[in-house]
Amino acid sequence: MPRGVGRIGRELRPELVWTKVANVPPAKANSSRAGVASIFDVARRAGVSTATVSRVLNGNTSVGSDLVARVGQAVKELNYSPNRVARSLRLRHNRVWALVISDIRTGPFFADVVRGVEDVAYEAGYSMFLCNADEDGGKEAGYLQLAAAENVAGVVLTPSGPGTDLTPVLEAGIKVVLADRRLPGRQADTVITDNVLAASDAVGHLLANGYRRIACITGPLTTSTASERLLGYRAALEACAVVPDVALTRSADFREEGGLLAMRELLSARPRPDAVFVANNRMTAGALQAVEEAGLSVPGDLAVVGYDEVPWAPLLRTALSTVSQPAYEIGHESARLLLHRIGGYAGAPRTVVLPTSLNIRASSAPRSTLPGSGPGPGPGRQSRAGARRRAAR
Ligand code: HPA
Repeated sequence: MPRGVGRIGRELRPELVWTKVANVPPAKANSSRAGVASIFDVARRAGVSTATVSRVLNGNTSVGSDLVARVGQAVKELNYSPNRVARSLRLRHNRVWALVISDIRTGPFFADVVRGVEDVAYEAGYSMFLCNADEDGGKEAGYLQLAAAENVAGVVLTPSGPGTDLTPVLEAGIKVVLADRRLPGRQADTVITDNVLAASDAVGHLLANGYRRIACITGPLTTSTASERLLGYRAALEACAVVPDVALTRSADFREEGGLLAMRELLSARPRPDAVFVANNRMTAGALQAVEEAGLSVPGDLAVVGYDEVPWAPLLRTALSTVSQPAYEIGHESARLLLHRIGGYAGAPRTVVLPTSLNIRASSAPRSTLPGSGPGPGPGRQSRAGARRRAAR
């Protein structure tokens, strides 16, 4: 079956219950059925977004007169006629949600969020299509336009950053719930965890276990999750009168590659960090690879606390301490709020904050319990592997 958002859009039929992964940039795939112009054709001809076309066609007065003229011209040239009967049918019967996730590969975290949404949707007789925005604002915007053009009943979104524009969906009257990440200034129901608190607990635990040169690898600072985890890291250090060293913080990409590169750099700092707090599971995997490459050991040379529980965290050679988030519940609660809105709830936007927990394991063991720990200078303390390497030099 050909992949593409346009095809998926055409296949969105209100009477069908289906779940679909849409993972193709919308721009490539919005072609119309042969001979019949679609809203995408009009948008392309006029050089505007589908949301603008729909605003013009709905008589929205906020659109500038030059855009109105361009859209009008394109409509005329393409002989475009929005199918009002089909539209009204869709309006009344659309049983589909769009779920726009920032990076589906952040497993199992986002997979669990998706599953939480799906369980509620399925129970309530909705299906959903899944869009992977890939931390890319442009791709995300395309998917939101698609959701508006398809007039889905609701959208659950993990926004890519402050540039995320909900206008196309909100103007189409579509209900939106934000999951996992806040959108500053945007009034929408939101389900999150307290990232500042969770990060400061994790770093506070490292401090309590005797670590002092604690590094932090966070994600893209445009995302609320990354910036709040960095805030929590700093708050914990400050609460212990440890002055945060900017040389010990990195903002990476929430992926393995970013974690690897950031950790390599951090390991070259002198004095070397004695611990690291890493703000998601993919970057933690990359950071652990860098530690391994450098021939260092955890926690002997470097204590580690990751973010997001992964099923294999306790199974690693050195079991990994993690901040565990209720990913399934984030999705489930987001979907419940969405259902409530679709059902007509018109109260003020709500923010639900779900609790996290800190799983303390061997990777952040107290310094005092580590082999070779003694009264000597902290960061110079070495693991047996480190001692072997030095002896071999
Ligand atoms: N991004 C990446 N990974 C994550 C996030 C996020 O917002 N939250 C939990 N893990």
